[in-house]
Amino acid sequence: MHLAIVQTSPAFGKIKENLQAALELMESTPADLYVLPELFNTGYNFIENLEVERVAEQADGPTFQALRAFGQKRFCYIAYGFAEKADYLYNSAALIGPSGLVGLYRKVHLFDRENLFFKSGNLGFPVFDLPFGKIGMMICFDWIYPEAARALAIKGAQLIVHPSNLVLPYCPDAMVTRCLENRIFAATADRVGRENRGSFEIQFIGTSEIVSPRGEILARLDKDKPGIVAVDVDLRQADKKKINHYNDLIVDRKPEQYSR
Ligand code: ACM
Repeated sequence: MHLAIVQTSPAFGKIKENLQAALELMESTPADLYVLPELFNTGYNFIENLEVERVAEQADGPTFQALRAFGQKRFCYIAYGFAEKADYLYNSAALIGPSGLVGLYRKVHLFDRENLFFKSGNLGFPVFDLPFGKIGMMICFDWIYPEAARALAIKGAQLIVHPSNLVLPYCPDAMVTRCLENRIFAATADRVGRENRGSFEIQFIGTSEIVSPRGEILARLDKDKPGIVAVDVDLRQADKKKINHYNDLIVDRKPEQYSR
């Protein structure tokens, strides 16, 4: 399958423009699955609840409608981050396909001031069966908890799609370890740019990447420029959890020892 990561530079609060910028990049590069950043349509650096309430959308809102139209036209799948208006506000990711919504993930491990605006996710770490493989979702800071990627691998995910707005510099290299320890693919789609909201200023680190189950960086984007890259991957490579005759990375886990 052809897997694309889309790295954008969202302008805070400018939903139509941010959506258009993502669609233009997607138009330029054919793929079976596109991964977009966390909160790609709204921007990230909220300073009050009211701002989140104003830009949050239900899972079938205008951003979903626009991306679904693209998915229908191109017969492809898209994973993207958005502020979700449901019983509470969630920092969510949706996976959509040619016939509509496939599933949702709500970010479990909220980073820093996200804790002021969003509720921690309540959908676990879901895995979805697509025509080209099994896709798990996590969002940005979930990377720092090895349990998130491990839970997805144990459930059979072959690829982790990872919409992100990375701030800490460690994630791109750490994802190599997440992929190696789980023998899984990962597609981290980050954003670039700076959001200055008065006393709160955030610089994002770009460096979106696709990593293989052997820890190879198959593609990596710039730290400060928008872009898109697609690579061909065979997700079945993620099914080989044995690294030698004796060691199967999933089967040989010893959960009874971890809790002693
Ligand atoms: C992050 O989780 N957006 C750093």
